[in-house]
Amino acid sequence: MTDVSSMGAQPGDERPVLTNRQGHPVYDNQNQRTVGARGPATLENYQFLEKISHFDRERIPERVVHARGVTAFGFFESYGKWGDEPIGAYTRAKVFQREGKRTPIALRFSTVIGGRDSSETARDPRGFAIKFYTEDGNWDLVGNNLAVFFIRDAIKFPDVIHALKPDPVTFRQEPARIFDFMSQMPESMHMLVNLFSPRGIPAGYRHMQGFGVNTYKWVNGAGETKLVKYHWLPKQGVQSMTEEDAAAVQARDLGHATRDLHEAIDRGDYPEWELVVQVMDDHQHPELDFDPLDDTKVWPENEFPPKPVGRIVLDRNVDDHFAENEQISFGTGVLVDGLDFSDDKMLVGRTFSYSDTQRHRVGPNYLQLPVNRAKGANVRTNQRDGQMTYHVDAAGANQHVNYEPSITGGLREAQYPTHDEQGPEIHGRLTRKRISRANDYKQAGQRYLLMEDWERDDLVRNFVELVSQCARPVQERMVWHFLLVEDDLGLRVGEGLGIRPDDVQHLDPLPGQDLTDEDGQRLANLG
Ligand code: HEM
Repeated sequence: MTDVSSMGAQPGDERPVLTNRQGHPVYDNQNQRTVGARGPATLENYQFLEKISHFDRERIPERVVHARGVTAFGFFESYGKWGDEPIGAYTRAKVFQREGKRTPIALRFSTVIGGRDSSETARDPRGFAIKFYTEDGNWDLVGNNLAVFFIRDAIKFPDVIHALKPDPVTFRQEPARIFDFMSQMPESMHMLVNLFSPRGIPAGYRHMQGFGVNTYKWVNGAGETKLVKYHWLPKQGVQSMTEEDAAAVQARDLGHATRDLHEAIDRGDYPEWELVVQVMDDHQHPELDFDPLDDTKVWPENEFPPKPVGRIVLDRNVDDHFAENEQISFGTGVLVDGLDFSDDKMLVGRTFSYSDTQRHRVGPNYLQLPVNRAKGANVRTNQRDGQMTYHVDAAGANQHVNYEPSITGGLREAQYPTHDEQGPEIHGRLTRKRISRANDYKQAGQRYLLMEDWERDDLVRNFVELVSQCARPVQERMVWHFLLVEDDLGLRVGEGLGIRPDDVQHLDPLPGQDLTDEDGQRLANLG
């Protein structure tokens, strides 16, 4: 091997020598090769062409959502039990089994709607995506900082994102488009009441909660299942910004949240979150006024008390933003033994979408990249080839056998542990139906009432400011929804817009909308 490290070194110059990717030393990085000092250039100019053409390809498509983000690394530590009960009674997932057990993690925080260089003070949900590099392979928990979501069926995701993204003609984020869409989606009210309150602009990534939002399952050693929701609580406390606070920060810095996280980790002030889970028996819960598989709902804490199960600490920044933040790829399908999906109609759609977009955005071999690789487990597949393959999985003694089954070698199926994969028996007609118990307003109203006065004031101000930019029918429909959420909210926003309850009383429920008796009563009382 030629050692290029000392080539051409001036005495005392310890810096390593620049090479191209073929390992050739670069003797002149200032001038391309030309015929004579003034040119022309020649086409066999390998060093120059490599440099420029690699540069031409430096960008990959940014994420279609959550483009702006920052990743940091650290560990998850299990508490092993809650009270006297071992967590193992609920899930056999190895990450949770022993008190003090640590699993390496990567966590990517993000905003949703803006592009890769957009402002981090935007009013927007924040992503909270964690990759656990467990001994059973990777587990990704892809959540947000708000407990609920805009929609409850994945088929609406492209619509909600189109409404929130810039106008296809003006390329501006337009309140008129956002509320045009939301006014037709009553299920979005709970999310809107959160998003347009100060919680919609977290002071920074260290000072926000995280939520798995969707409903998952835990499976124990006996194959028994429970429904679970995951929440992350920041030890640093929750801090949010009003529009005015955000405007002042944005005037100085478009990336304050990334900077804050990076600097805190650099100075050893490692941020920490506690993981708490809510657990429910795995059935439809007819006694509840919402469906446990509806991600526009929270589970009441008095009925389903959050149980602390572990903590995460972030103690290392990325070495390279592109390799470890742009290329990191999370997905809701990435689960390990003991953790499972529920039939939540958002979750199934998400599970297809993530790896689909990553095959497009990063490439079909995105899982070979160091940041995505299942570092904690042995990976042995019969997958081969595709763009950018650089790693061939060990195929056992006989590398010729990249298929299964074979009597000459290759890989064999794993043996099931004690459980089998027989799920519940499912009966039903193929159909397209909304879930029942939609109950779109009640929890939104409860959230409104739980806010502090200044948060409510900020929420009303934000709604008035933005909804006033919409067409009159959209304004009226939004006031109608807000009155159903909570009288006070509807009356205050209505007052700001010059819309009285009797201006909207004639509006019928939206097509397919089922109002509860309580909602019906509220409508009758309008005016
Ligand atoms: C990113 C789809 C709902 C949290 C993404 C990406 C897609 C996507 C395509 C880009 C992924 C990439 O390029 O690597 C969907 C679909 C949804 C949905 C189809 C609904 C059906 C949600 C919900 C949450 C969420 C409810 C919160 C619980 C995130 C986060 C990221 C993300 C945190 C960024 C991950 C990262 O940091 O790389 N989503 N999403 N998404 N989504 Fe969703």
